[in-house]
Amino acid sequence: ADVITLPAKNGDITFNHKKHQDTLKDCKACHEKGPGKIEGFGKDFAHKTCKGCHADKGAGPTKCAECHKK
Ligand code: HEM
Ligand code: HEM
Ligand code: HEM
Repeated sequence: ADVITLPAKNGDITFNHKKHQDTLKDCKACHEKGPGKIEGFGKDFAHKTCKGCHADKGAGPTKCAECHKK
């Protein structure tokens, strides 16, 4: 799917996988061990890898409610 819904009790995250693939052109930014399910994916990964990249690049959401939408 181009867009993946990541469920969280404080609001689901709508993740545009296709857009990240196209703009980053680097699967390993998220898939260290190759494409597919990400082992241990969840809160810690998201807040480090996802939010971390957005902060580093100054692009993409870093505030809770920008990702978590009820
Ligand atoms: C899931 C491939 C880049 C984040 C997946 C899946 C595949 C895949 C095959 C499994 C889909 C499914 O289960 O339906 C790729 C390829 C990439 C790429 C080939 C490079 C062209 C990225 C990037 C990110 C990312 C850059 C992060 C910015 C995710 C996430 C999931 C996922 C969060 C869901 C993981 C899970 O449910 O455990 N990807 N991906 N992917 N991908 Fe990627
Ligand atoms: C998971 C809180 C910011 C993306 C979670 C969970 C909590 C949480 C409590 C666990 C939910 C559950 O277990 O059901 C917060 C708070 C934030 C914040 C308080 C602000 C300080 C963000 C941001 C992003 C993000 C900015 C996006 C860049 C995610 C993702 C998950 C998650 C993808 C994992 C969802 C899954 O496992 O399917 N967050 N979050 N969060 N958060 Fe956040
Ligand atoms: C934008 C979520 C990982 C770079 C966004 C947006 C969301 C999001 C919700 C804003 C809406 C959108 O444009 O689609 C996530 C989640 C991640 C993740 C849940 C982890 C699974 C990453 C990583 C990087 C990255 C690892 C960089 C290595 C960006 C950039 C933008 C963005 C540059 C803004 C530019 C654009 O719209 O293409 N992300 N992201 N993200 N993300 Fe992520």
